[in-house]
Amino acid sequence: MRGQAPPETDQAENWDVLKKLLPYLSEYKARVILALLFLVAAKLATTGMPFLIKGIVDQLGAAGNNSMVSGQWFLAPVALVLVYGLLRFANVLFGEIRDTLFGRVTERSMRRIAHEAFVHLHRLDLDYHLNRKTGGVSRDIERGVSGISFLLRFMVFSILPALIEIMLVVGILLFQYGWKFGLTTLIAIITYILFSVKITNWRRAFLREANTADSASNSRAIDSLLNYETVKYYTNEAFEANRYDANLKQLEQAKRKNRLSLFALNGGQALIISVSMTAMMLLAVLGVQNGAMTVGDFVLVNAFMMQLFIPLGSLGFVYREIKTSMINIEQLFNILEIQPKINDAPNAKKLVVSQGEIEFKQVEFSYRSDRDIIKGLSFKVTAGQTLAVVGASGSGKSTLVKLLFRFYEPTAGRIEIDGQDIQQVTQDSLRRAIGVVPQDTVLFNDSIWENIRYGNPSAGDEAIKQAISMAYLDDFIAQLPDGTATQVGERGLKLSGGEKQRVAIARTILKKPPIMVFDEATSSLDSQSEQMILKAIQEMAKNTTNLVIAHRLSTVVNADQIIVLEQGRIIEQGSHDDLMLSQGSYAQLWLAQQKEDSQ
Ligand SMILES: Nc1ncnc2c1ncn2[C@@H]1O[C@H](COP(=O)(O)OP(=O)(O)OP(=O)(O)O)[C@@H](O)[C@H]1O
Ligand SMILES: [Mg+2]
Repeated sequence: MRGQAPPETDQAENWDVLKKLLPYLSEYKARVILALLFLVAAKLATTGMPFLIKGIVDQLGAAGNNSMVSGQWFLAPVALVLVYGLLRFANVLFGEIRDTLFGRVTERSMRRIAHEAFVHLHRLDLDYHLNRKTGGVSRDIERGVSGISFLLRFMVFSILPALIEIMLVVGILLFQYGWKFGLTTLIAIITYILFSVKITNWRRAFLREANTADSASNSRAIDSLLNYETVKYYTNEAFEANRYDANLKQLEQAKRKNRLSLFALNGGQALIISVSMTAMMLLAVLGVQNGAMTVGDFVLVNAFMMQLFIPLGSLGFVYREIKTSMINIEQLFNILEIQPKINDAPNAKKLVVSQGEIEFKQVEFSYRSDRDIIKGLSFKVTAGQTLAVVGASGSGKSTLVKLLFRFYEPTAGRIEIDGQDIQQVTQDSLRRAIGVVPQDTVLFNDSIWENIRYGNPSAGDEAIKQAISMAYLDDFIAQLPDGTATQVGERGLKLSGGEKQRVAIARTILKKPPIMVFDEATSSLDSQSEQMILKAIQEMAKNTTNLVIAHRLSTVVNADQIIVLEQGRIIEQGSHDDLMLSQGSYAQLWLAQQKEDSQ
């Protein structure tokens, strides 16, 4: 699924998509029915028109032959012409009313489906999001949503009316002019439909190819733009442009195949229409010649044929478009059908944090089955205390946070908060209880103020100001011409690393969770700011249970407990003093860092 072409489905499955759309129609039942009534009315109006034309032609012809008998010869055709005008107007008006009525249905469906897709994407687990390609997914959704609106409209307003119209015309020709006309029309229609269906199905592969290429090139463009700076650091603009162009080339080729096959389709359809029109007109000419039909009948047959092939032509077009939409919608539904790997247990309760004690019990974890990251880890963070985790890069420190936050599930063992297994409580209540200052803070492209407020959207201005002070952001903000209204830029890149970290800290202060996690929260700060932030953290930490991850040991000396992690295992554990006394790897690291600092 992820970014790949969807599996080739057979037709039956494809039509299933239609069934999934029915609920969207049923929301506005009355509207749909009313729109359908106007549709039928419009069709009846069109079907009446050829009869009027026949009447007019015949009467004019008769008047011409009989010369003037009375002034009446003039009135009758004029009346018919007026009725004709009225019908023509009614036809257009009813059509417009129908569209206006139905517009509401499609607009609401588009809103629903786009909303549903958005909510669904947020429900999917972190793993999905690390693998997805933003540009591609957004394109898939975009195409799917517009496909749905198209399909709803055309399912109701093109297929149905075309079928009604075709049946009416065939019926009329059959009863009015006999089996020859009826049969010829029927053969024409059947050939036309069979041909269209066959060719359209054949074209499906090209369409899928074009879609995949479209999503791929969009993914590439977005990814490249997101990495703008990296592209510049390595002066890889040409490289990026070439890669993008390679994707565009695939898209171009897919579109070309698409266009050529469209030519085959349209050409074939035109041929079928022309041959049948000619045959029908020949039949009518013969009829007029041997006196079985009037000139008016010839005109009528002609008008009906035109009227028949317009909906047929639109049916061909619509069938093609419907298939396109269905392929697009299919892709959207594929996304909607991806199941999140992390789910609330049935009957999951809300997490109740009374103390805030965290316990890891024999936790094992791997991102991929072939490489273990966390190996039988057990430790306890006593309520209200601070536990520090130190260890080499890649030893699994940030992974512990992801497990605690339930972005991933341990493969064995369990994690408990106040004795409640985190797998048995709702994700929502769990995540509400934990504040995380992440290793790499990414901000929304909004103002500093709004970014901080994100920690608790309902917080008042005073609380936000307090959080700003506690995170030592006052001085920085005072220097800014726009103050807290300063825009931070895409992903917060207009702030320095340390400023971003402080915004993240302020945000977490505002959230006020009973459990705090700091993943290298001061790694981007100079020693002076670090000391200030550490004070702020200690202030905050008084009332909470804390997990602090740090490289710099000087930031963890005050922790109640320190665990030293190596390749997913605890190799040492104790307070700073304990660890110094035991002269293990912590003590060595400490001395090395002290030396570094004093240099
Ligand atoms: N989503 C993922 N899929 C596969 N492997 C991953 C994933 N995330 C992390 N890893 C791997 O897991 C290991 C532990 O990563 P983790 O982020 O926990 O390290 P860390 O101790 O926080 O390191 P650092 O101090 O550099 O932040 C790393 O070797 C990393 O490559
Ligand atoms: Mg890390």
